[in-house]
Amino acid sequence: MLDLKRQYAPLQQELLEAVGQVLETQQFILGEPVAAFEKAAAEQLGVAHALGCSSGTDALWLALAAAGIGPGDAVVTTPFSFFASVSAILRAGATAVLADIDPATFNLDPKAVDAILEGPRGQQVKAVLPVHLYGQPVASDFFRRIGPVHALTIVEDAAQAYGAELDGVKVGGLGQVAAFSFYPTKNLSAAGDAGMVTTNSDQIAERVKMLRQHGMRRRYHHDEIGWNARMDGFQGAILSVKLKYIAGWNNARRAVAERYHALFTAAGLAEAGPYPSCGIILPHEVAGGKHVWHQYVPSSPNAKLARKSTTLSRCTCRKPSNR
Ligand SMILES: Cc1ncc(COP(=O)(O)O)c(C=O)c1O
Repeated sequence: MLDLKRQYAPLQQELLEAVGQVLETQQFILGEPVAAFEKAAAEQLGVAHALGCSSGTDALWLALAAAGIGPGDAVVTTPFSFFASVSAILRAGATAVLADIDPATFNLDPKAVDAILEGPRGQQVKAVLPVHLYGQPVASDFFRRIGPVHALTIVEDAAQAYGAELDGVKVGGLGQVAAFSFYPTKNLSAAGDAGMVTTNSDQIAERVKMLRQHGMRRRYHHDEIGWNARMDGFQGAILSVKLKYIAGWNNARRAVAERYHALFTAAGLAEAGPYPSCGIILPHEVAGGKHVWHQYVPSSPNAKLARKSTTLSRCTCRKPSNR
């Protein structure tokens, strides 16, 4: 679906120089190239700490483990995400409890989360892991209701949402700790696997640094069983180059989304939600949110219609369903 070469072509020279610099200095794991990226990313996202690691999946595990989530704890999350949102919870030794999503945003519905917190398993819940799916930040009523009211740790899965914002705050700084993925198809992408944890907590940051290096604070002194989850120097160098362009790329995605919206609407295909009957429900931005459109996902009741726009344009039924 995505031609990665289109982004590479105009950056080729700059990227090759950055990679060449890593070869010159031989700083292949963490080191200066990763430290420079972490500093620039923390500044851009407005957080105290950004810590590079080996993938978005590892970032989720590091975030949970560093926040003290483990055996005996339950974490509420969404069933509508990539596998890693749940597998990282299980890998941390905790139990995943699934709450339903809001069909209008595809993100966790705060009312569904509330129902779990007030139910029989509520006491066991130590954290909530919202996913900013497709680049859309979770709506502000989620952050108003869930974190402060229930004194829970919010672990953001921001894998698809680098640069997205809610009420002027960038994702990655909305909860206590957050995980990003730089998998090659993400809006900010590495040349391989890479990820990042962000937090404003000095204590969580210190634990992430320790856990990503086999639980070491001092070389060869293993305080805990961590993991090898470090970022490569090449990835740090490449990501530092791309950080300079990400705001422009996100704005270009927003312009494309606006164009889709206008064209679908002008073609008479857009329906009122929340569930489509014959046409399609267009994705929309939550109030106060800045969507970065990692993906533009309309909903249709008919998978064939969604795949074949020619068939879609022949559909004449406009009556919304009352489901
Ligand atoms: C929502 C979400 N969470 C977690 C991940 C895991 O990231 P990675 O593939 O870098 O391990 C991804 C990406 O694939 C994702 O889309």
